[in-house]
Amino acid sequence: MQKITIISSSVRQGRMSNRVALYFKNYLKENHQINAGIIDLQEMSLPLLNERLKYLENPPTALLRISEEIKNADGVLIVTPEYNGGYPAALKNMIDGLGEEWYRKPVAIATVSSGAFGASQVLTSLGFTLWKLKALLVPSFFQVAKVQESFTEHGSPVDKSISDKNAANIIKELLWLATITK
Ligand SMILES: Cc1cc2nc3c(=O)[nH]c(=O)nc-3n(C[C@H](O)[C@H](O)[C@H](O)COP(=O)(O)O)c2cc1C
Repeated sequence: MQKITIISSSVRQGRMSNRVALYFKNYLKENHQINAGIIDLQEMSLPLLNERLKYLENPPTALLRISEEIKNADGVLIVTPEYNGGYPAALKNMIDGLGEEWYRKPVAIATVSSGAFGASQVLTSLGFTLWKLKALLVPSFFQVAKVQESFTEHGSPVDKSISDKNAANIIKELLWLATITK
């Protein structure tokens, strides 16, 4: 069975995109019997890193934990909001704080917004960063618009059949990549 890690990228008080991270955790359990862990950047509370992990003399414990999680994962699903057309600084801080962990790592992206466009602009910047790190990007995305209306606080989708159909699209590709790179 593949090991999948979900990254919940918003550290904002009152955040909404974490609902989508919880949804995917449930989806993977329900449909693939996978117990995915969530790297919650709010909980991790990483400091602003001034260097990559491999060059740090006293790396923060949270960064070491994240590095291990990603190294051990067969695939990673990043759930990210869109902030001013890009992805959150907390996610950039974490991605850049690592390095080889991303090499040939299958990565899927789910983007979340409170507006009508499903955070589609974030795909350009986050996809490019992951490509630079030589991650294997799943060529299919999961986009959530009006998250406050489409998912409950505990990650239940208002329209389960549509959400599950869209989730199946990226999870199928992520699990395939995770299998061939294992
Ligand atoms: C600093 C900031 C910038 C934002 N910029 C955008 C944006 O460019 N496009 C968009 O659709 N929503 C934008 N939003 C709204 C988010 O879509 C909204 O907060 C959503 O709930 C996802 O983020 P969250 O998980 O932090 O709640 C922005 C929110 C913040 C806090």
